[in-house]
Amino acid sequence: MDIEEAIKNRRTIRRFKQDPIPSEILKKLIDYARIAPAGSNIQCVEYIIVESPAMREKMFPLVRWAASLPEELRTPERGREPTAYITVLVNTKIKQSYYEFDVGAAVENILLGAVSFGIGTCWMGSIKSEKIRALLDIPDFYEIKHVISLGYPDETSVIEPYKNSFKYWKVENEMHVPKRKLDDIILKMM
Ligand SMILES: Cc1cc2nc3c(=O)[nH]c(=O)nc-3n(C[C@H](O)[C@H](O)[C@H](O)COP(=O)(O)O)c2cc1C
Repeated sequence: MDIEEAIKNRRTIRRFKQDPIPSEILKKLIDYARIAPAGSNIQCVEYIIVESPAMREKMFPLVRWAASLPEELRTPERGREPTAYITVLVNTKIKQSYYEFDVGAAVENILLGAVSFGIGTCWMGSIKSEKIRALLDIPDFYEIKHVISLGYPDETSVIEPYKNSFKYWKVENEMHVPKRKLDDIILKMM
């Protein structure tokens, strides 16, 4: 898969088939994050992978889904939950001032890498951090930034032209995600 295909095919997925993701692929995704750009090359982003059914069951209530959708369409139904989670941490003993950007670059490498293996992802900022800290036994010197939910997709998602709302919507098993036009975001070419 070339880079354009990966970028264009990456859409947030919130319903998953229950086939497990091989551990080697999950580790490979972290390896893609490992070599992402980092301010001053100071690499403060670290990860916890959750893949066992028992731990997945405990992680599931600690993330919140699709705030733009009506409540009954937000959360994956039983049997369509993620089959893995990657918790994204910042090691405050080595963080520097641009670390938020480093997190973004690292996460995007994971999301695009996942597409190349046919894996869907949901980057999640709406998480119950302190409950995740307790569940995963994360020391206090780590900031818990985000969770990435992963699994083989069991829904589709398409890009729509932006009209006057950023809200995405869902029809049957398909997400519709408005994106602004190219000409509207390139202010000038000089
Ligand atoms: C920083 C960040 C935080 C997000 N947090 C959540 C979240 O907590 N729950 C969720 O369901 N989606 C979350 N998303 C996914 C966005 O809703 C999604 O990226 C957006 O609707 C655009 O859809 P697309 O990824 O398919 O382009 C988050 C995305 C980003 C970049």
